[in-house]
Amino acid sequence: MDKLVKRENEGTLRSLSFCSGMIDFFSNDYLGYASLATSACDLQFSSTGSRLISGNSSTAEECERFLANRFVSSAALIFNSGYDANLGFFSSVPQKGDTVVYDAYVHASIRDGIRLSFASAFSFKHNDLEDLRLKLSRATGTIYIAVEGIYSMSGDQAPLLEIVRLAKEYGAYIYLDEAHSAGVMGVNGAGLAVELGIADEIYARLVTFGKAFGAHGACILSNENTRNYLINFAHSFIYTTALPPEQYVRIMDILRDADLEMRRKSLHKNCQLLNEKLSIIRDGNSPILMLGTENREELRRISSLLNSAKFAVKPIFHPTVPMECEGIRVSMHAFNTADEIDSFASQLKGLRPIQS
Ligand SMILES: Cc1ncc(COP(=O)(O)O)c(C=O)c1O
Repeated sequence: MDKLVKRENEGTLRSLSFCSGMIDFFSNDYLGYASLATSACDLQFSSTGSRLISGNSSTAEECERFLANRFVSSAALIFNSGYDANLGFFSSVPQKGDTVVYDAYVHASIRDGIRLSFASAFSFKHNDLEDLRLKLSRATGTIYIAVEGIYSMSGDQAPLLEIVRLAKEYGAYIYLDEAHSAGVMGVNGAGLAVELGIADEIYARLVTFGKAFGAHGACILSNENTRNYLINFAHSFIYTTALPPEQYVRIMDILRDADLEMRRKSLHKNCQLLNEKLSIIRDGNSPILMLGTENREELRRISSLLNSAKFAVKPIFHPTVPMECEGIRVSMHAFNTADEIDSFASQLKGLRPIQS
């Protein structure tokens, strides 16, 4: 409980709140699919058990074959969420004596998975290839490199081509979390690895469905052997009730939607428009922008001013992000209008982009 008081005193206490009737500049619904009705409404609601007991179905398996094909992989395994998928992979695949080398900005779910693993782990400075090389040179056993396609809080991309080169040099396996790059990068939202033409150089990729694809759940794309391994050893896959069957249909419906590419292009146009309005020079297609101020009080003040003007945004504090990245996390969407972006941008004075 003292820890709660400490957070309160520091101004970083988390509490639940919700916004309604506001202009969305904070959700991960990048393509605007979250409110789209699909045909997935007449199936049984509960899967009734783990996939290993009563929770499996031909729909779940059909969806996994569809995903493997769609995301250019040999196999896919669906988890109930991206959190569960990362936890399941990192807690079970790297073994004692192996090493996980991870970017300092990777998501909490990867860190939690690593904490459950018996492998050694070191972080490398965010997107710093020299530091990555140094950490790889100290690694033992089978080496895994954990990175994200687009980082969830800083919004920048991993230098994936260079990371692939380093991985080859050190014989390391890459795990790429595409939670924020799937749907956003690559034709039809196939993700960063597919866009760069290097999907087959990545050992495992995570795609989540609760963000750009407006559904729920996640899958790990890898080879058939790794899929079998996860079915046998990933506790977050084994010991939990599977997704409701209608989710598999929703995922397939959205990924087959004829408007997906058009929505993706609108999203990119809107990201570029916001960059222009704020005179920011950066990769034009990242939907995430972190804007900071000199101190927390100012961040809270600007955030509540934006909320009063009906813009839904939230300030993000340590420990959700490193201290130096505290700021307002702006998310862009295909459905934000040019007028909304214009008036939103005009209210962001006093904030500076946090770029690595
Ligand atoms: C980079 C990253 N990976 C994984 C996750 C977890 O995904 P999910 O929300 O499906 O649990 C998130 C969610 O915030 C994320 O940002």
